[in-house]
Amino acid sequence: MLADRAPRGTLTKGTVSPVREVPSSIERPEYVGRTGPERVTAGEVKSPATIERIRTASRIAAQALELTAEAVRPGITTDEIDRIGHEFLLAQGAYPSSLHYQGFPKSLCTSINETICHGIPDSTVLEDGDIVNIDITAFVGGVHGDASVMALVGDVDEESRLLVERTKEAMHRGIRAARAGREVNVIGRVIESYARRFDYGVVRDFTGHGVGEAFHSGLIIPHYDSAPQFDDVIVEGMVFTVEPMLTLGEPDGEQWDDGWTVVTKDRSRSAQWEHTILITGDGPEILTLA
Ligand code: MF3
Ligand code: CO
Ligand code: CO
Repeated sequence: MLADRAPRGTLTKGTVSPVREVPSSIERPEYVGRTGPERVTAGEVKSPATIERIRTASRIAAQALELTAEAVRPGITTDEIDRIGHEFLLAQGAYPSSLHYQGFPKSLCTSINETICHGIPDSTVLEDGDIVNIDITAFVGGVHGDASVMALVGDVDEESRLLVERTKEAMHRGIRAARAGREVNVIGRVIESYARRFDYGVVRDFTGHGVGEAFHSGLIIPHYDSAPQFDDVIVEGMVFTVEPMLTLGEPDGEQWDDGWTVVTKDRSRSAQWEHTILITGDGPEILTLA
């Protein structure tokens, strides 16, 4: 019989495959081959021409997510998901922004069960009942588009399915609250108040961010109620991500010695969804749609 409660996690790391190459015809972000990104110079308010380029990068990221999420099934490795995403992005002329970003070794993130974020694709085999976040950022035309989705592996217990669905709803509520003239902290206020109804943990250590010429621009979008802090006023023409992570237990994380993977300390399951959005005079517009 299908369980209605989520199990505690017991994830361990697998083996990371050799580096996937990117043809030299594909433009690389400036941080590739360096230890970290340059200081950001572009402003948070984008020109119409830059917005069109972010639209293109965002659409490609969303299409890559659709393709990779469709491939999820019991028996597939996260490395195979990485291969599918990597090859799709290259075929679109896009660079997988995660690859060599501050030393990240793969082209996308796969975060399973108790993993909050930044899981590295490896030889780990997805099993019936798992939940997995796939996070893909595409760089093309000099700009990034960033999004992530959850995929269910086979038959998933009800508690986990509800967490996945409600985290998506929390993201959409946060997005709908993002309107010009408000402070960015309105987004987290809405997300946290929704998450509290279900007694979910709200992760504070990772946030949304401005995105465009830079992968992470410097603008920070908390997913918890941070007021009166994070009082940047939302302005028409801003582009940023909303990417809440909610947990079944406590939201505190700890990092593996791979320098990336963050799992909940209590090994409770975590879910995340992400979109890149544009602030228009009519409200928020989601750019990471296929
Ligand atoms: N895509 C992630 C985000 O939403 C960042 C991943 S950084 C990586 O901001 F290096 F782990 F890929
Ligand atoms: Co992001
Ligand atoms: Co992302």
